[in-house]
Amino acid sequence: MKKTWFKELSVYQIWPRSFADGNGDGVGDLTGVLGKLDYIKSLGVDAIWFSPLYASPQKDYGYDIADYYNINPEYGTMEDFKAVLDGAHSRGMKVIMDLVVNHTSDQHEWFKKSAAKDPKYKDYYIWRPGRGKDGKKFPNNWMSTFPGNAWQWNEERGEYYLHLFAVEQPDLNHDNPAVREEVKNVMRFWLDMGVDGFREDVITYISKREGLPNGFPLPIMRGMEHYSPGPNIHKYLKEYRQVVKNYDAFQLGEAPMMTPKNALKYITEGEDQQLDMMFQFQHMEADCFMTSYLRTKFNLRKLKKVYRNWQHKMYGVAWNTNYLENHDQPRVISRYGSEKFRRESGKALATLYTFMSGTHFVYQGQEIGMLDYPFKGWDDFVDVATFCAKDIMEKTHLFSEKKVFENCAYAARDNARTCMQWSAEENAGFTTGKPWFHVNPNYKQINVAAEESDPDSILNYYRAVIALRKQYKDAAIYGKYVEKLGRSKKIFAYDKLAEDGGVMTVIINMTDGEVAFPSGCVPTGAKQLISNYPGAPGSVMKPYEARVWYTAAPGK
Ligand code: GLC
Ligand code: CA
Repeated sequence: MKKTWFKELSVYQIWPRSFADGNGDGVGDLTGVLGKLDYIKSLGVDAIWFSPLYASPQKDYGYDIADYYNINPEYGTMEDFKAVLDGAHSRGMKVIMDLVVNHTSDQHEWFKKSAAKDPKYKDYYIWRPGRGKDGKKFPNNWMSTFPGNAWQWNEERGEYYLHLFAVEQPDLNHDNPAVREEVKNVMRFWLDMGVDGFREDVITYISKREGLPNGFPLPIMRGMEHYSPGPNIHKYLKEYRQVVKNYDAFQLGEAPMMTPKNALKYITEGEDQQLDMMFQFQHMEADCFMTSYLRTKFNLRKLKKVYRNWQHKMYGVAWNTNYLENHDQPRVISRYGSEKFRRESGKALATLYTFMSGTHFVYQGQEIGMLDYPFKGWDDFVDVATFCAKDIMEKTHLFSEKKVFENCAYAARDNARTCMQWSAEENAGFTTGKPWFHVNPNYKQINVAAEESDPDSILNYYRAVIALRKQYKDAAIYGKYVEKLGRSKKIFAYDKLAEDGGVMTVIINMTDGEVAFPSGCVPTGAKQLISNYPGAPGSVMKPYEARVWYTAAPGK
């Protein structure tokens, strides 16, 4: 496997609004980030990915961009951004920007001019006349990802526009070469400033089938077979790739509903490659069916199968990403672990994914074991996606009112967006003002300061596994994945084989009970690298017990 710097990164994701408030207005900002760079560096990570920092009306918290060339005033100025960029670089950390080009905000100048039929901008978006006698019927039956129909009427233009996300997020028309030039200009602007790569938002959706035919009559995501992916996706991505080729930067595409087989069409290394890696979603579906709103019991074997599949199919030909949390996913301890065994399961999960092959991601708060928020009523949510899901679940009449609420509370992206818990002080030390969003009431126990002062904390465990991932990179980062005890519903175990014959062995009890320790899985002469329980293994593994060993090749 070819070695490159971006494959070895551990990346810390910042969702700026809830990370750290530097000026006391209750909203996270770049001054806040600047003050935390040493903390971020102390985790041992090598890069920061910023969720969108650009000017935006915040209908989808930054994923609705009104100006790609300016910083959201709530977050600061371009000077503030440059200070953060320099501050990160001078500490040896790369900076990755979110590139959101499937859609813009409806407040973007391009959209306003397009609605007004300005000749230059008229075809920047996907406009269609209404159908039917009154001309008001939707152009087709597509649905948006935030469930609802995918079309919005625009009075000024007298036509519908397509939006695959919120109403305020009109889809750009990438079939228009002028739009593609705009995208390339945006990319060049940030690369010239010195950013080191892009995380490209729902990038596999940018091409839509010509004629926009009706979709297969599914109750959700109707129409997706016509844009996920669309016919010109590879052509457009290759164009965008040309821009990045001139820089020492990488591209990470977010790819909903992606399978390993299809992923290889984008990320197989070589001349035709369009992206360096992808965020796929399959490993986040071990506790749900299709969508996180349809909850099922956590299924370890389902999870194993996904890792087996991706680790094997990418090996030697393409590159994976490894994440368990981000701004769209509820907190992983609350999903795949146990709040009761927060410390043990937080460390078990950290162990599980850190030694897989792939670029490694940690989301703000994950490293201190933050948990889901105890939502009490609908007023507690702010995310548009939750309200759309509520709406559609109510319309199906399949769930009781109580169940609709429970489903939403479990799946809500708001779980990941509560304020970062820095200390036991007021507002968890996130702000000196009034926080824009909830602080989890558990902040007095769960916060960075408390975790710092405890050598046995989840935070210090993250530091340790991140360091081990680098120290044993030939096995952990580049090694070949070999699953162990594949049929076990309780134990997650695997080896990572380095080219020089070294073997890393990972064994985790993924249950809240005791299980027999599979001693046969550990090679003789193996040296234990880390565990979340002190000492050598006993004959039973304790709840969420995790252990990692390394066996050097003979003579090494
Ligand atoms: C991506 C983002 C998500 C956003 C959506 C629309 O999935 O991660 O937060 O709402 O795209 O931009
Ligand atoms: Ca602020």
